Amino acid sequence: MADSKRVVLITGGGSGMGREAARRFAAAGDAVALFDLNTQGMEETAAGFDNVRSWQVDVTDFEAVCAAVAEVETAFGPVDRLYNCAAIMPFGILLEQDNAIIHKQMAINYGGLVNITQAVLPGMVARGRGDFVSFASMAGWIPMLKTGAYTATKFAVRAFTETLHHENLNCGVRFACVCPPAVATPLLKQGKESAWPKMLENQGEPIAPAVVIDAIEDCLQRGKFFVYPTRDAKIGVLMRRLLPGLIWKQVHQVEGF
Ligand SMILES: NC(=O)c1ccc[n+]([C@@H]2O[C@H](COP(=O)([O-])OP(=O)(O)OC[C@H]3O[C@@H](n4cnc5c(N)ncnc54)[C@H](O)[C@@H]3O)[C@@H](O)[C@H]2O)c1
Repeated sequence: MADSKRVVLITGGGSGMGREAARRFAAAGDAVALFDLNTQGMEETAAGFDNVRSWQVDVTDFEAVCAAVAEVETAFGPVDRLYNCAAIMPFGILLEQDNAIIHKQMAINYGGLVNITQAVLPGMVARGRGDFVSFASMAGWIPMLKTGAYTATKFAVRAFTETLHHENLNCGVRFACVCPPAVATPLLKQGKESAWPKMLENQGEPIAPAVVIDAIEDCLQRGKFFVYPTRDAKIGVLMRRLLPGLIWKQVHQVEGF
């Protein structure tokens, strides 16, 4: 990573891609703040580093997010990089899925992004510098059977981040919206334990978190807003844009309904 000794804030830093990014930034000498509900996960992320600190924060609680961001800025200084990783992913057929679970996904995956954005981005814009990274997904482009509620949150993340980017063009802040395929992290277990679509079985092995973090860094350097960590992800999104009916046909065939 080219820039070191920055202040990095990572939501969902207690696991998966947030952990991968946090440990890399920490190894490069950055001051890293983790926001997560999972305290044990954050301890594991921070293990071996004295430049990583953890805050147990629920990203759906705007007041708590603002208070924690103020503590981070007092401890480390203004936030230079924000990675919005916190999310959940319970799958299910929409009419069978619990009402509260559908709303909870939107509150965390999208509402959490709104909260951390309003707590951190105004400072970045005022300072005229910073990196703002949202984690959408290929699911933010391609709806499928059994993934509707999660997919809706990722469509929202993508629309929100794209609009933010355009409302703040040329202000000095770099924006990225990350659209990975399946990544080998604990998040997948939530999908597998609820209603895993056969379509996802057919897509090969999940990629490593490191591949995604590398792709983000590369896209930030090159000024690319959408981050597609694999060629297949890029092709999948293109197919959805050009031939949505064909994808739906395949989805119905594979799922068998
Ligand atoms: N893993 C994948 O296949 C995949 C693919 C595409 C996009 N993504 C997206 O990438 C991002 C990172 O995913 P991951 O795979 O590293 O997930 P992960 O499950 O490994 O980590 C997510 C973290 O978010 C935390 N979290 C959940 N609810 C929270 C809340 N209310 N407040 C604070 N923290 C909370 C969890 O405790 C967990 O530590 C997510 O936005 C996810 O939707 C993941």
